[in-house]
Amino acid sequence: MEVIIKASYDEISKEAGRMVRKALLKKPNLVLGLATGSTPIGLYNELVCMHKEEGLDFSQVVTFNLDEYVGIPASHPESYHTFMERHLFSKVNVPTSNTHIPQNTTRNLEKFCEWYEQQIREVGGIDLQILGIGVNGHIGFNEPSSSLGSRTRIKTLAPSTLKVHTRDFGGDLDTVPKMAITMGVGTIMEAKQCLLLASGKSKAQAIARCVEGPITAEVPASALQMHPKAVILIDEEAASQLKRIDYYKWGYENKLRLEADSL
Ligand code: PGA
Repeated sequence: MEVIIKASYDEISKEAGRMVRKALLKKPNLVLGLATGSTPIGLYNELVCMHKEEGLDFSQVVTFNLDEYVGIPASHPESYHTFMERHLFSKVNVPTSNTHIPQNTTRNLEKFCEWYEQQIREVGGIDLQILGIGVNGHIGFNEPSSSLGSRTRIKTLAPSTLKVHTRDFGGDLDTVPKMAITMGVGTIMEAKQCLLLASGKSKAQAIARCVEGPITAEVPASALQMHPKAVILIDEEAASQLKRIDYYKWGYENKLRLEADSL
């Protein structure tokens, strides 16, 4: 696990943008796993800027979103379909046919989940998976107690998640969807690289448990400790409960020095 600590949300967004650009320049038909929520918005803004100002090309990129609510239509203002359209898809040149978001209105949800996994396999797997983390340690909607080997399926949202998400539904808990389709922890772990972003004090405990706690289904993000290429890119506030902050910073400085020397 590589832990990178930056001073602010702005800086993690910029660094994440640089990482995605690097991956995209190396592989124009990059298979990108995408996340929603407030955290990746800064990254998407960076990518939109890179597309507009430098012509960063998304024409061959294939995307798979982690999750989508069940029970609201794709056209709902708070659906993840709408979110992705608003923050990224309508602003870069990724073909709609290359984008995949779980279909919350499909009749046979179980079959759909199998199909979604099949689509990921058919393009050769996800190259780079962007992740956020819930205050309870979830990734995607894999809530605490999710199997660390789980695949794409329906999950019921945890009460702590519902509470956080009421902010997007006008503060009304009753209107927040209670279920979602989500890639499983096992699905996420098959991505060739994972990039988890977190910002702010509210994420500090979840980050400490994810990075330095035991690997446990109680903290689904802790499964990333077993991932061969996971980067945890966080700001100072989200890092504030980590025990080995100095080591992570020193390790990152040395890596930058090594990269600069090899140029
Ligand atoms: P947030 O959500 O980015 O809105 O904090 C992250 C998550 O719940 O995975």
